[in-house]
Amino acid sequence: MYRLIDFDIKGDSHGSLVPIEGGKNIPFNIKRVYYIWGTDYSVVRGRHAHKNLEQLIICISGSCDFILDNGKRREQIHLSKPNQGLYIKHNIWREFTNFSKDCVIMVLASEYYDEDDYIKNYEQFKQNTCVI
Ligand code: TYD
Repeated sequence: MYRLIDFDIKGDSHGSLVPIEGGKNIPFNIKRVYYIWGTDYSVVRGRHAHKNLEQLIICISGSCDFILDNGKRREQIHLSKPNQGLYIKHNIWREFTNFSKDCVIMVLASEYYDEDDYIKNYEQFKQNTCVI
């Protein structure tokens, strides 16, 4: 349903750095990057699945929780490490919440933004996963 990828930290006396290269230390080429911050603790974002998109999600500051659902089971994943990526393929329902005040989430995506790639209705998502 998902994979947690721990990245090597290039650390020295100047601080820490994590390099990410599309198709090298993540499984897809990167077409889009976006980031999210300033979301209140109890807000629930997401509430959708994607038809094709692959994503790598990194909580580069603070922490938050992701709830992933493949139509059969749900799992909650706590993200709080700037060197750990949550890799999600298509057809996974995601919700994310419990944002710390300093939470910044960076998302690397395999495709350009496409509203038609979203499945926003949970019942429709469940029906699609039953067909597969
Ligand atoms: P949305 O995907 O609904 O955010 P989340 O799942 O994190 O709650 O996107 C929020 C808004 O931003 C929506 O109006 C679409 C827009 N948006 C873009 O224009 N480009 C993008 O790459 C993304 C991810 C969103």
